[in-house]
Amino acid sequence: MQLSTLLLAVAVPAACQLDKWAKAAGLKYFGTAVDNPSLSNQGYMKIARDKDEFGQITPANGQKWSNTESSQGRFGYGSGDAIANVAKQTGQLLRCHTLVWYNQLPSWVSSNYNKDQMQRIITTHIQNVAGHYKGQCYAWDVVNEAFEDDGKFRQSAMYRAMGVDYITHSFKVASQTDPGAKLYYNDFNIERCCNAKINATIAMIKTIKAAGAPVDGIGMQGHSRVGKSPSKKELMDTMARFSELVSELAYTEIDIRHTKLPTSAADREQQAKDYLDVVAACLETPKCVGITIWDYTDQYSWIPGQYPGEGEACLFDKSLNKKPAYTSIISLFQSAASAGLGSATPVPASVARTITVATTLATATTA
Ligand SMILES: *[C@@H]1O[C@H](CO)[C@@H](O)[C@H](O)[C@H]1NC(C)=O
Repeated sequence: MQLSTLLLAVAVPAACQLDKWAKAAGLKYFGTAVDNPSLSNQGYMKIARDKDEFGQITPANGQKWSNTESSQGRFGYGSGDAIANVAKQTGQLLRCHTLVWYNQLPSWVSSNYNKDQMQRIITTHIQNVAGHYKGQCYAWDVVNEAFEDDGKFRQSAMYRAMGVDYITHSFKVASQTDPGAKLYYNDFNIERCCNAKINATIAMIKTIKAAGAPVDGIGMQGHSRVGKSPSKKELMDTMARFSELVSELAYTEIDIRHTKLPTSAADREQQAKDYLDVVAACLETPKCVGITIWDYTDQYSWIPGQYPGEGEACLFDKSLNKKPAYTSIISLFQSAASAGLGSATPVPASVARTITVATTLATATTA
């Protein structure tokens, strides 16, 4: 790109945009979950479809087993496709979510199957669903939430029938079905170094890789609470350990909720600091490719439903106004870009300088 073009591109839009600056800082994407009910909200979709704001989207529910194979052998892709089609139209990356999970699982999967039967059920599910989306997914969350917080395997229907082999098998079938997708293991409470669940995850990844499972990435969901969120160092220590096992890492479902509502200005500043720890940890970890927030606005956050009395966890409020956390993240990306800190693809010094100049100009023009 010509420097003059870049200068223009950066200086013209007064609005700051997350994905544009995330890329300038060296990440592959900054994304958001999008759920089906919000597709008909035009104000919401205008922002969700802005690929400079969100370079990646994840269907919040559309691709889950309960939606894709609600009864055995009957596959339905309406909800998943509605979101995948947005990404197709805009050119946003699609993180696909999720193939094998104990939750939002139709009851027929939880009958007492023996190992062979469960193996066939998983094979059929993955071959169909990952086959349907073949070529569209930057990444698949192949297995989601296999552990309890104490590091013991969840006694899911799949685990009861197959033990840890269900995870190995799922990755093998996913890789045969869509070899181009990055295959992830995804979980929550595996962000803050070094709890039992993180240790169990590391042991599991070693076990299944030794058994021939092709695992590309570990997704850290990153649901946390304002003021109690992991520090940058705690996050980086975990990612250093995960980096020894897989080729990439991502924060896949970030939201940082207030536990007391309404919030004060100080609470919102604390939330901004907590978000910055996550973003900085990712920027400074070479294998961390991107960050996805679990919806961008409080209007569609799952938090109030799951944790009554808590909320306001997102970067935009219910009326789609940007919060201090949004502005802080942009500033961090901008200074990382100008410092050439970007870990994945360092910004050349000349470009970084141009961005700094452009930012200064943009600030001067809008001031
Ligand atoms: C997890 O592993 C680390 C590194 O071996 C160790 O320091 C830590 O105590 C372990 N944590 C638990 C809860 O077992």
